[in-house]
Amino acid sequence: MASLGIALIGTGFMGKCHAMAWSHVRPVFGDIPDIRLETLCDIDPELTLQRSREYGFARAETDWRKLIEDDRIDVVSITAPNNVHREMAVAFLEAGKHVWCEKPMALTLDEAEAMAAAAENARGRTLLGYNYIKNPAVMHAKHLIATGDIGDIVHFRGQVDEDYLASPDVPWSKRARIDLWGLGTLGDITCHLVSFAHFLLGDIASVAADMGTVVKQRPVPGTNEMREVENEDIAHAIVRFKSGISGTLASSRAAWGRKNLIRFEIHGTKGMLVFDQERLNELQLYVSEGPEATRGFRTILTGPSHSPYGQFIPAPGHQLGFNELKVIEAKHLLDCIASGSECFVNFAEGLKIERVIHGMARSARERSWVEVN
Ligand SMILES: NC(=O)c1ccc[n+]([C@@H]2O[C@H](COP(=O)([O-])OP(=O)(O)OC[C@H]3O[C@@H](n4cnc5c(N)ncnc54)[C@H](O)[C@@H]3O)[C@@H](O)[C@H]2O)c1
Repeated sequence: MASLGIALIGTGFMGKCHAMAWSHVRPVFGDIPDIRLETLCDIDPELTLQRSREYGFARAETDWRKLIEDDRIDVVSITAPNNVHREMAVAFLEAGKHVWCEKPMALTLDEAEAMAAAAENARGRTLLGYNYIKNPAVMHAKHLIATGDIGDIVHFRGQVDEDYLASPDVPWSKRARIDLWGLGTLGDITCHLVSFAHFLLGDIASVAADMGTVVKQRPVPGTNEMREVENEDIAHAIVRFKSGISGTLASSRAAWGRKNLIRFEIHGTKGMLVFDQERLNELQLYVSEGPEATRGFRTILTGPSHSPYGQFIPAPGHQLGFNELKVIEAKHLLDCIASGSECFVNFAEGLKIERVIHGMARSARERSWVEVN
């Protein structure tokens, strides 16, 4: 494969993150195809032109449909909002392109199913933006589980909290509308927690959940009006994995003080692993060995012995950041394109995550256990 042409849709938070990933993946990993930054697409013409120059793209475009039949484009990064993921992803897959789409997959389970069906029949690879599982510390946790360092796994405890909607003064926005944004905390952040669970321990099979909205109305900007928040601020569940392992998932977008807490504990018969995204270069390991008096959690600080950390930095403890996880994700997509193998999380695996979060919403509404996978 001589080179790959890239189109990027969206220039916001995730748009910039994907742009950095595409620019850095070759300098970091070396032996990969030449990357051509072909087209940057967003809806504001002036801003898109400005960003295309800053990010290094050859062209700026405001109509994403013009990219569908453009033969210079091989891979499309979709970082536009959730309500356009399905339409864009399906069109690009049908045109034979590879698609890297941000999470959550879509607004509804029906849309996610349509995306997975399109991917099944497509020539292109698919990847969803579950960046946190690309962390070398998390990959090391998976390795320690596989080697039996903490014995047989008996329990998963997951928590994801942020405070971006904790204040009642945050104005009403499209985030509050189910038809434009979809689920609340479940779609925004619980899906990341499920990606950890599925990556480390396999699929969740059933859920029993509860959910609620803390701030039920928010002020509409520029008016005296208060408008209803349609989706959930808090959701939590007890879960059962296909393997029989039990677990809990807890999530809030109204948890004061939490900026990006994504924490899991993996309980084993011989020890425990603990990870927290707010300290993303560390993994905590407890092993029930040695004299009781000197036992305790050990902090493993990531370094070159935790691949692919060493591709970025030759010295241990100097620490990776959020944007570097996206570079690792880009490399994973390029590897899968080269080998023809499936990415994790591809659209088929992403659909399983959507079944868990939508299953949690259904379980909470019906006040009963729901089979999800
Ligand atoms: N992986 C992660 O950790 C992570 C973090 C934040 C957001 N996200 C996801 O990324 C996506 C985008 O979120 P964001 O925070 O970057 O949003 P954002 O609002 O900062 O950026 C979205 C961009 O898409 C553009 N856009 C909207 N409609 C468009 C269209 N029809 N054609 C072209 N451009 C269009 C907007 O103008 C905007 O520039 C969401 O799906 C979100 O859930 C993922």
